[in-house]
Amino acid sequence: MIMEQLQQIDHYVMQWFNELKYSLPTMLKKMDLQTKTSRFDLVTNVDKAIEQSFEQLMITKFPGHQLYGEEAHHDTQRLREGFTWVLDPIDGTANLVKQQDDFCVILALFYNSEPVLSYIYDYPRQKLFQAVKGKGVYLNGVHLPSPPTMPLEDSLISFNNKVLNDVTMHDLLDASFGYRLIGACGLDSAKVFTGQFGVHIHTNAKPWDIGAQFLFAEMLGLKMTDFHEQPIDFIYGGPFIISNPGCYEETLRILLQKGGYQK
Ligand code: IPD
Ligand code: CA
Ligand code: CA
Repeated sequence: MIMEQLQQIDHYVMQWFNELKYSLPTMLKKMDLQTKTSRFDLVTNVDKAIEQSFEQLMITKFPGHQLYGEEAHHDTQRLREGFTWVLDPIDGTANLVKQQDDFCVILALFYNSEPVLSYIYDYPRQKLFQAVKGKGVYLNGVHLPSPPTMPLEDSLISFNNKVLNDVTMHDLLDASFGYRLIGACGLDSAKVFTGQFGVHIHTNAKPWDIGAQFLFAEMLGLKMTDFHEQPIDFIYGGPFIISNPGCYEETLRILLQKGGYQK
């Protein structure tokens, strides 16, 4: 795949995000809520409409590409071959419903299983994080540098406290500067991109929660692995840490030393 082709694809995707910026307010006004597996597992017509809209873009501009999307595209048979898009149309749906804030779109393109384009669109704050392999990482079009290396004791850490064992949770709180959780994996991860957080941990990430983070981590010099320092399979997801290099080893040591977490 050549750079020109990648830039052409990026151009269409950036146009799509720009159109979404203007169509989302109307979509949000007509939002209709449904539950999936439990009363906490929410989906809205907005999630579904964004996924459909991206599928439409793909069909018209990128024929031959495949879509792996949270709401309606789960066929995993050929995803390692050619171009595959991974989409979470709304990450943080509970935040959207309960707070009308702190949600994002997570989108990534893989070519033969390698990440080549990534986006996290923080709609409420109008921040678009963009990574183009071989070119750079940008926030609203402005180059985003790698964050400085920070030790855990000076860093904010973010994790879902429901599933961590009490003792592990307190050890992590004691070792870090403090704790924050936004509750949208894409936005918690983006805070690590900018150096606002040192670490985000998700004990059971779905592939669409973390699709974009692979390329951002690679290009910003961050660590992104499972809890045994092994690469994560983009088709399956699973235990996930994204970390500033200065926090990574100590966080994993604490996470694993006393039984850690339940999935
Ligand atoms: C959720 C968010 C949340 C995480 C959940 C995810 P969704 O995504 O990323 O931060 O803790 O596990 O399911 O369902 O809002 O797309
Ligand atoms: Ca999600
Ligand atoms: Ca979602």
